[in-house]
Amino acid sequence: MNASPNLIEQSFEIAASRCADITPLVYQRLFDRHPEAKAMFRSQGSEPVMGSMLALTIEAILDFAGPRTGHFRLIACEVASHDGYGTPRDLFIAFFAVIRDTLRALIADEWSPEIAQAWDQLLVEIEAFAAVPA
Ligand code: HEM
Repeated sequence: MNASPNLIEQSFEIAASRCADITPLVYQRLFDRHPEAKAMFRSQGSEPVMGSMLALTIEAILDFAGPRTGHFRLIACEVASHDGYGTPRDLFIAFFAVIRDTLRALIADEWSPEIAQAWDQLLVEIEAFAAVPA
């Protein structure tokens, strides 16, 4: 069974109601936790790529947790292309936890045990999915 799609979606919606654009918060958290990730992006002109990478990742998460119409497949495809960008598999997977933790910090008092559990399950499922060859 998929991680509860409503709870995952809800967590993004609550965060969006508190912050118009979570992109800077996500990358700040990523680079604080994994400083080596910064050097993987071009030093100039990487902002649109970073914004688009996050937007596509969120789309994939919502599809993975929800209807699985196809966007979720991005996760498996990008594991392979990120080998080419020099992004280790563990770091690739860590991006999902960074997104979760950014939402948790924003949502604060509304971060319920149910939302926490849905995300725990989702992260386990994504890791297993990314381990399967595309
Ligand atoms: C911390 C982990 C990650 C790092 C360090 C990373 C790094 C990168 C880098 C360096 C690029 C740009 C390559 C270029 O300059 O052309 C890129 C692009 C991209 N990444 Fe990631 N990535 C990570 C995680 C992910 C995840 C989890 C996904 C989605 C499942 C993803 C999806 C994408 C996509 C779709 C692009 C292309 C964006 C575009 O040009 O529109 N990345 N990533």
